[in-house]
Amino acid sequence: MAIKTFMVIGAGQMGAGIAQVAAQAGMQVLLNDISAEAANKGLAGIGKILERNVAKGKMSAEEREAVLARIRPSTSLEDAAAADFIVEAATENLDIKTRIFQTLDRVARPEVILATNTSSLPITEIAAVTSRPAQVIGMHFMNPVPVMPLVEVIRGIATSDAVYACVDELARALGKTPVEVNDFPGFVSNRVLLPMINEAIYCVYEGVAMPEAVDAVMKLGMNHPMGPLTLADFIGLDTCLSIMEILHEGLGDSKYRPCPLLRKMVKAGWLGKKSGKGFYEYA
Ligand code: CAA
Repeated sequence: MAIKTFMVIGAGQMGAGIAQVAAQAGMQVLLNDISAEAANKGLAGIGKILERNVAKGKMSAEEREAVLARIRPSTSLEDAAAADFIVEAATENLDIKTRIFQTLDRVARPEVILATNTSSLPITEIAAVTSRPAQVIGMHFMNPVPVMPLVEVIRGIATSDAVYACVDELARALGKTPVEVNDFPGFVSNRVLLPMINEAIYCVYEGVAMPEAVDAVMKLGMNHPMGPLTLADFIGLDTCLSIMEILHEGLGDSKYRPCPLLRKMVKAGWLGKKSGKGFYEYA
């Protein structure tokens, strides 16, 4: 599979991270978002991360310029006509994603693979709105994308073996390690991670321990790089709640019920790092 032009839909934290690794792997990247402001903000964020890499001596200033020059902002999904591979990393909302996939299906060349970076929405349902369900696949990167080695590659019910093989090869070309999973709520990553985070929130809710203590137990006792509540703030408490709701509804087991404290914090607008307050406060 020769990918010269790699298109990313959504220039937020995940989309920008994916665009960065693709550009660093030598591909031409189209970084698409609904406004020029959003696309340029994503590009500026990549510029800052690369600047830090230059300052640390991990990359030369020329390399930084070359990587940035390979990323072109885009504000029209019609640009998908020029793409050899497309990965969508837009808002985690099924209606928004299905609308994007219908447009990409109309615009992109028939042989092009359409991947989604969704963290928990059903790949099979997204694929079903296209005329090419065999070419739709989940490509779930972890945050922060430039640092985390995993790509969870999720096969929808109709995803072909050839498409899986292409995406496996692409993930390796991006310097990542692909792991194959099937399409069930939360896949593997969030089916295992989010109940742990939810249980950590129950520990605070039930007065078992303060957030700092819960995090210290998991960091110092289990060697986790971040405690579960710090990680929840980092992921976003709204995202954590939405994933728990998908697990609860999709698997139908009360063990996945979201902690009432998580619901209350989201209702208060305490969404973690991005809103300045979650289990901890951020300047
Ligand atoms: N973007 C790019 N690089 C970043 C970064 C970011 N946002 N954050 C940190 N880094 C880099 C740093 O520059 C540093 O690079 P060098 O080694 O080259 O200096 C390196 O990562 C380590 O960073 P720090 O020394 O500042 O801090 P750390 O050692 O605590 O590592 C961390 C930071 C990698 C984020 C680490 O705390 C960690 O692994 N945390 C857990 C992350 C995790 O679990 N991610 C999965 C979230 S769940 C998800 O993504 C799926 C989902 O669907 C919800």
